[in-house]
Amino acid sequence: MGTGELLSRRHRLDTPRPSTPEAVAKTIVDLVGQSLTECPIPDDAPAGMGLPGVIKSGVVMTAANIDKAWVGSSADEIVGQAIGRRVYAINDADAAGLAEVRLGAGRDARGTVLMLTVGTGIGSGLFVDGRLVPDTELGHIELHGRDAELRLSGVARERRRMRWKTWATEFNDYIAHLEAYLWPDLIILGGGVSKVMDRYREFLKSRAPIVPAQYRNTSGIIGAALNAADLQARDALRASEPAQAPEAAPASEPAQANEPAQVS
Ligand code: BGC
Repeated sequence: MGTGELLSRRHRLDTPRPSTPEAVAKTIVDLVGQSLTECPIPDDAPAGMGLPGVIKSGVVMTAANIDKAWVGSSADEIVGQAIGRRVYAINDADAAGLAEVRLGAGRDARGTVLMLTVGTGIGSGLFVDGRLVPDTELGHIELHGRDAELRLSGVARERRRMRWKTWATEFNDYIAHLEAYLWPDLIILGGGVSKVMDRYREFLKSRAPIVPAQYRNTSGIIGAALNAADLQARDALRASEPAQAPEAAPASEPAQANEPAQVS
């Protein structure tokens, strides 16, 4: 865990269609089953999960690239019940950034680090001195009148049949927008495109250095695990703290205007 090294092979199953919470949970059960045959994991160990959407306390708030039925559902609960262990869900790009900032390409960086994952969509993870500003969703900023990810994600590049040079030139516009607002000190590129950076690196232009993710496509897996470990430790600490007694209202506090009058 401390090194980011995977203890089992990476297993991969296609996202089911439609990608409803129930269908995805079923696929995850198969995936976890495959991993467990190679690497026994204690029953009380939590599982980390990265999802392409805004996640607040385990609840999915947006779903640009997965079934809309996720919105309002607790990924922690649905997947946790399916696999029979505590699950902690986090945005996929936040997870990838966590791994890179703590252990990978951004581990020595100071200041503002921006992780961008370019694959099916464009995900973002923003870090300030190592601390995550969660759920930034910078793939959805407007670029030339459209959602940036609809023009420049890995899938969009293929759909638009863009050569790497053309894609990189347009991607530079996107980076320039982000730099104008956020002034990152380092940009880490992850997702599918980071594996072939040699094909377009020479065309990229930015103020901050752009480096490929050290863990390439596994940063999301590593970061989701790091996040699960962090949150489990936080929950254990909270559970060990003495419960706070509810604050008694001062005797002199005036009755609220909408409270029924006391009749003695
Ligand atoms: C989603 C993000 C996600 C990104 C990469 C976007 O469409 O809105 O939450 O991080 O895709 O998967």
